[in-house]
Amino acid sequence: MARATTKAASDAPRDAIALLKQDHRTVEQLFEEFENADDDQLQAIAERVCQLLTVHAQIEEEMLYPAAKEAFDDEEELDLVNEANVEHQTAKDLIAKIEGMTPEDESFKATVKVLSEYIKHHVKEEEGELFPALKKTELDLKEMGSQLNDRKMALMQELGIEPEEEAPTQRRKSSSRSGRSSATKSRQARAGSRSKSTSRASSRARH
Ligand SMILES: [Fe+2]
Ligand SMILES: [Fe+2]
Repeated sequence: MARATTKAASDAPRDAIALLKQDHRTVEQLFEEFENADDDQLQAIAERVCQLLTVHAQIEEEMLYPAAKEAFDDEEELDLVNEANVEHQTAKDLIAKIEGMTPEDESFKATVKVLSEYIKHHVKEEEGELFPALKKTELDLKEMGSQLNDRKMALMQELGIEPEEEAPTQRRKSSSRSGRSSATKSRQARAGSRSKSTSRASSRARH
C-alpha cells in the first residue's frame, strides 16, 4: 500500500481533482508567505499568486467546468458550476487590480488579503461540494487530469511562468542572485520574449 501511494505521488499521472487541489495548496502557501514577507518581496509573491491563479482559473473554466456541466444533471450541482464561474470573474477582477498596483499603493496589501479570503471561500466550495459531486459522475478524472496538466503546462510556458515544482524559497533565492525579481522576469517574458520559457520547460522536464 505504501509503495502504491509513493508511486502515485511521484510519477503516476494525477487525476483532475488531485491536480487542482495541489494548485490550491500552492496558492495557499504563497498567500501565507505574503503575510510574513519583507516589503521587498511583496510584489514578487503577489505576482506569482496572480499568475498561478490565472492559469488555474483558465484550465478550470476551459475544461473542468464545462465537463462538470455535461456530467451533472442535478440542478443544485449545476448551480455549483455557475456559482464557481461567477466567483472566478470576481477573483479575476481582484487579480487585475493587484497586477496594476505596487506595494507602495495604500490598498495593495488589503487587496491581496481580500483576494486570499475570497479564494479561500471558493476553494472550500470546490473541495467541499463541487469535487465530491464530480467524483460521483462518470467523468474520467484521470483523463481530465492529464488534459488539465497539458493545458496548464502550455499556458505556463506561454506566459513565461516558472514551474511550481521549485520551492518558493529556492525561487526567491535564485532570483535575488540575479538581482531581479521573478515577477519582473515574468512580466518581461509576457511582454514578448517567449523563447525564454523553453529553457524553463526543459528544467521542469527533469522533475
Ligand atoms: Fe480551483
Ligand atoms: Fe475555481
